[in-house]
Amino acid sequence: MERLDKILSSALKISRGDVKKLMKKQSVTVNGTLVKSGEMKIDPDTDEIRLNGSPVVYQKNIYLMMNKPEGVISASNDRSQETVVDLVPEEFRRDGLFPAGRLDADTTGFVLITDDGDFAHRILSPKNHVEKTYHARLAQRLSDGDIERFLSGIELKDGTLCLEARLRVIEDGETPLVEVVIHEGKYHQVKRMFAALGNRVVQLRRIKIGGLSLDGTLAEGECREITREEIRLITGE
Ligand code: URA
Repeated sequence: MERLDKILSSALKISRGDVKKLMKKQSVTVNGTLVKSGEMKIDPDTDEIRLNGSPVVYQKNIYLMMNKPEGVISASNDRSQETVVDLVPEEFRRDGLFPAGRLDADTTGFVLITDDGDFAHRILSPKNHVEKTYHARLAQRLSDGDIERFLSGIELKDGTLCLEARLRVIEDGETPLVEVVIHEGKYHQVKRMFAALGNRVVQLRRIKIGGLSLDGTLAEGECREITREEIRLITGE
C-alpha cells in the first residue's frame, strides 16, 4: 500500500506540494469516489485512480539494466565524479534511483538501477543466494587447488571468510580469463579473493545477476528497462 500523493507525484512527475494543490482544485477519484486528501493508502495493483475522469497510469517501481563503463562510480550522486545514475536517460529518471549493488569504478558490466529498496535488499542479501557472475582477467596463471579453494570458501587476507564460490577457466594462458560466481558482495570481493590466492585481477566485468545475463546489445553506458519475466530470472521466484 502506498500513499495517494506519492503515487500521483510519481505518475504526474510533480512535487507532493503540487499534488496537494491539484487535489484541491481538480477531481481525483479512487475507485469512483472523490478524494481530497493525499494521505489515503492505495494498492497500486488493484485501486483505480482517475484525474478529471482519465485513468492515472502508474508504474510502481522501475528496474533498469545498465552496462556500466569504466571510470563511473556506482552511486546515486557524487560531487566530483560521474555516477551510474547520472547516465540514466531522462525517460527513466525519477526520484530515489540507486544502484542495487556496487561495482568498483574500474569494473564494467551489469548494474541494476532501481528505486525499489525491498527488491535491492532481496538480491543483495547473502541469505537469498542470488548469484553474481563475473569475468575476470588475471595477472598470472591459476595454481593447482585454486578452484577447490573457491569452492570451500576463501579466507581473505584480513581473515574474512567468503561463502563457497565457483571458478571456471574460460581462456587459459599467461593471463587467463576466468568466470567467477559468488552470492554475496563484500567490498572488492573478487579482487580480494584472487589477492588471497596470490594472484591479481587486471580486468573485471559483471555479466550476470541471478539467471539474467547482461544484454549484449547495450553499449557501454546504455541502459534499458527489464521486464517482469527478467526480474523473476534474477530472484529465481
Ligand atoms: N568484486 C570486486 O572486487 N569488484 C567489483 O566491482 C565487484 C566484485
